[in-house]
Amino acid sequence: MRRYSRITGTGSYLPPRRLTNADLAAELATQGVETSDDWIVERTGIRARHFAAPDVCCSDLGLEAAKRALEAAGLLPTDIDLIIVATSTPDMVFPSAACILQHKLGAPGGAAFDVQAVCSGFVYALVVADAMIQTGAATKALVIGAEVFSRILDFTDRTTCVLFGDGAGAVVLEACEHDGSGPGILASDLHADGKHVGILCVPGTVSGGKVLGSPLLTMDGQAVFKLAVGVLEDAARTTLEKAGKTTADIDWLIPHQANIRIMQSTAKRLKLPLDKVIVTVDQHGNTSAASIPLALDHAVRGGRIKAGDTLMLEGVGGGFTWGAVLLNY
Ligand code: UT7
Repeated sequence: MRRYSRITGTGSYLPPRRLTNADLAAELATQGVETSDDWIVERTGIRARHFAAPDVCCSDLGLEAAKRALEAAGLLPTDIDLIIVATSTPDMVFPSAACILQHKLGAPGGAAFDVQAVCSGFVYALVVADAMIQTGAATKALVIGAEVFSRILDFTDRTTCVLFGDGAGAVVLEACEHDGSGPGILASDLHADGKHVGILCVPGTVSGGKVLGSPLLTMDGQAVFKLAVGVLEDAARTTLEKAGKTTADIDWLIPHQANIRIMQSTAKRLKLPLDKVIVTVDQHGNTSAASIPLALDHAVRGGRIKAGDTLMLEGVGGGFTWGAVLLNY
């Protein structure tokens, strides 16, 4: 018998303003930026994204997802003793979006902090929460991925602005004890390689009352693509090995939702059929740290993921960061 952390509830939230590729292309055309539904669908699989209203922050999106996850778990905000928000687009420089969200939720007193690992953020946050639950530092955690990437997009750069969207996803993680055959996180694998900082970054910073450098996202898409496919395969294999499992044990692969072609390549390398891959990128674009919990919640509520299923969650993104988590749902 040992202590595990298991997912007992999932939730997600997309802001109401939805733009199809055609809507976005029409808006961009008014600024002389040329793109098309055909290009976006063919190169990325994205068909639509959601953008938050100007007065809506990361913590607002995360709050809605958290409420839904708590409801699914049958818990009250006051039951929660740990809140981790994975985000690269927090409400302010400090305090953390997690502290702001904790107050809005009415869940005072427990630990609350942000994790910044860009598109790998949710996987990083899940591993941290799992470790805290295993050691007894927490018993009931909310792990949230929430992003307003629309705030950091350069709408004159068609190579990036068509890719990203806003949204949030959340899970409730609770402690449980069993012999390894029950639900819970089985193994994980996290990595970073800071030499790739420049291929995906928002290089600006705040100093002396001004923004120094660009506050907008810049990406070498092809470099990110090539790195992503390799590391996603490696992380999945290492995680399976740690858990004493093989790819045949995976019921569902839930990769970071950035590009359908990356997901297809990862599945092919792992020899997993595409119908075992949860894909929601078509509906919300790349929502960075929110994408994995959004996809997870979608598949749980859609009835595809069932109790007892084995899930492989995989993140990859700026840093360069990547990682995987294998769990029994
Ligand atoms: O969340 C973190 C992880 N991020 C990612 O996973 C992103 C990884 N990278 C990618 O998904 C892909 O590299 C992109 C979708 C960003 C780009 O796809 P690509 O197949 O690598 O296209 P490309 O950059 O090679 O561009 C091909 C052409 C270029 O035109 P030329 O030079 O061949 O004439 C671009 O200028 O497509 C052009 N292009 C566009 N055309 C219409 C680039 N963006 C657009 C656009 N609309 N939005």
